[in-house]
Amino acid sequence: MSKITVVGAGNVGATCANVAAQKELSDELVLLDIKEGISEGKALDMMQTAALLEFDTRIKGVTNDYAATAGSDAVVITSGIPRKPGMSREELIGVNAGIVKDVTQNILKYSPNAVIIVISNPMDTMTYLALKSSGLPKNRVIGMGGMLDSSRFKNYLSNALGAAPADVEGVVIGGHGDTTMIPLKRFATCKGLPVSELLDAATLDKVVADTMVGGATLTALLNTSAWYAPGAAGAILLEAVIRNQKKILPCCVALEGEYGQKDICIGVPVTVGKNGWEKIIEYPLNSDEQALFDKSAAAVRNMNKVLTDMKLV
Ligand code: 2OP
Repeated sequence: MSKITVVGAGNVGATCANVAAQKELSDELVLLDIKEGISEGKALDMMQTAALLEFDTRIKGVTNDYAATAGSDAVVITSGIPRKPGMSREELIGVNAGIVKDVTQNILKYSPNAVIIVISNPMDTMTYLALKSSGLPKNRVIGMGGMLDSSRFKNYLSNALGAAPADVEGVVIGGHGDTTMIPLKRFATCKGLPVSELLDAATLDKVVADTMVGGATLTALLNTSAWYAPGAAGAILLEAVIRNQKKILPCCVALEGEYGQKDICIGVPVTVGKNGWEKIIEYPLNSDEQALFDKSAAAVRNMNKVLTDMKLV
């Protein structure tokens, strides 16, 4: 028996729940929202696809009823407001920080052993908040940002290469922000071949630039932020936890000296299994890449200061 909870039945939470159910990641999936009727309605809609898509997960929608989430193995937090065109993820902190702290505490009351996956923005700071305010062991709190950014990186790479997305490898580290993420072009490959040997420097730089504003580009088109890719990335992260896969995934985790940083949650490649993230994989960064990482960490740390000012940690 396994159980998953997704908090927040907005576009991202609902998509995450939908993908998780279709992949039959758990027997039970609880979708919780603060707005009356939203999660119940969406859960009903998803359950009405079960006979068509032939999945066995039972999805239940609840309004703020944390007792219904009891005994979850993994919990995804998507609560909070999304960004609008022209807004940075960082501008959401004032509203989202209080919500994320509250949700984390409520969840842990009923699922003290759950692995917590944070998607709410600004994601690196919300992950740090969930970790610090809960006192959980560091491995049980994972932020989903790098997986989404890496998927965007691989998509732009596959377009430039004319290659299948699944044949492309690419990792984005650093903060989950338009100016803080670092697509590692030197380590990107297509079926083992370095992309730097397949694309000219200008094309590769454009892929990196497009990746960094990948979310903002579609936010301008949709008037709200993305959901298919963030929701799917959350579900793939859930899968690694629930199935104890030990996959290497770029995620936001607490560093204690790795990559030269400590007392921060930021994106790096980690192995993920049933206990949450297990091991940090240290890529041999050159001095330019390390400088970008340090700059990214400084920006994230600066954002984390707001939590202290708000007396949330
Ligand atoms: C994104 O990058 C919502 O942060 C999310 O689309």
